[in-house]
Amino acid sequence: MNSQPESAKAVEQRKREHIQIPLSQDVSYKTKTTMFEDVILFHNALPEINRLDIDTSVKFLNHPIKAPIMITGMTGGAKEAAVINKNIARACQKLGIAMGLGSMKAMIVEPSLTYTYQVREVAPDILLAGNIGGNDLRHFSVEVLKKALKDVGADILAVHLNPAQELVQKEGQAEFADVLKTIADYSKKLPIYVKEVGQGLSPEVVKKLSQTNILALDVSGAGGTNWIDIEYKRRGLDFGPLSNWGIPTALAVHLASQNTKLPILASGGIRTGQDVIKALILGASIAGMAIPALKSGNQSYEAVEESLGNLIKEVGDIMFLLGARNLDEVKKIKPMIVGRLREVIASASEVI
Ligand code: FNR
Repeated sequence: MNSQPESAKAVEQRKREHIQIPLSQDVSYKTKTTMFEDVILFHNALPEINRLDIDTSVKFLNHPIKAPIMITGMTGGAKEAAVINKNIARACQKLGIAMGLGSMKAMIVEPSLTYTYQVREVAPDILLAGNIGGNDLRHFSVEVLKKALKDVGADILAVHLNPAQELVQKEGQAEFADVLKTIADYSKKLPIYVKEVGQGLSPEVVKKLSQTNILALDVSGAGGTNWIDIEYKRRGLDFGPLSNWGIPTALAVHLASQNTKLPILASGGIRTGQDVIKALILGASIAGMAIPALKSGNQSYEAVEESLGNLIKEVGDIMFLLGARNLDEVKKIKPMIVGRLREVIASASEVI
């Protein structure tokens, strides 16, 4: 841990490592799953609809989206990031889905890096989220953040909460006093939603955030990319005592849906059409995904378009097999929860 301000060069180098490590090593949870395996989808042998009639579109944050998917914030601030962001953005534009940019701290500290976040040229119509750390918020005025959003043409600011990552990161700033107060204040002046980065939002946190003026929540739970391990790897370790920390995504989505009226984005280990549909049945409005898009985005625009196109097709296929013509019908399906997820939900209800 360290509370010295970082130089722009150091931030850029860190951004580079944050791209290179997930691209070259397995950074998924080793001892934890999303728990979506404990949510059962019932096959409908009599769907009474045609596959061509399936409508995967949804409105999220007042923005029409063609399928309930967002590529959540990852990168910006390093040369490599510019290409990855553009490849992802172009595919999101083509497919009509939403996208987030990575933390904009680098471009705020070093404006010459702004171009690494600028994607509007190739994605004029998508719902685009800017991004900043919750613990960084108080260092930047509302005006500075408004200008950053304007410089990249973003519609909304995603504020990420990453206390576990900051704790393990060598340059980390585990300084989270007054973060809620700052979010509450800024959310009156800026369009904001709040996200985790893969350790999940608990019901208590969801309740506190729901009392502010934020517009949505991304629970970003455990079971997918493990930022704690990425930071251990940057220290030359494979894992450490916090490697198993976090709230599995399926559990986080279910508990969040019981504790807020805000729209929920489900992310953290979402990899298949079945995961997307299960997240919606548990109460999410849309699902988010990060690392698979980093990998295809590092290859080419065509690779992102192909993998996301396949995912959207899978979502439609599962809707057909459930007999759900549109996402309103999906959301009417009652979740069938078994096994450990059922047990954890039962014991959570005793303490919440
Ligand atoms: C991220 N994530 C992230 N989140 C955020 O709010 N700001 C950021 O700058 C980043 N940076 C970032 C870089 C890379 C390379 C990855 C893979 C991820 C977290 C991301 O948005 C998401 O919450 C988690 O990665 C969990 O989703 P997946 O990867 O399991 O689908």
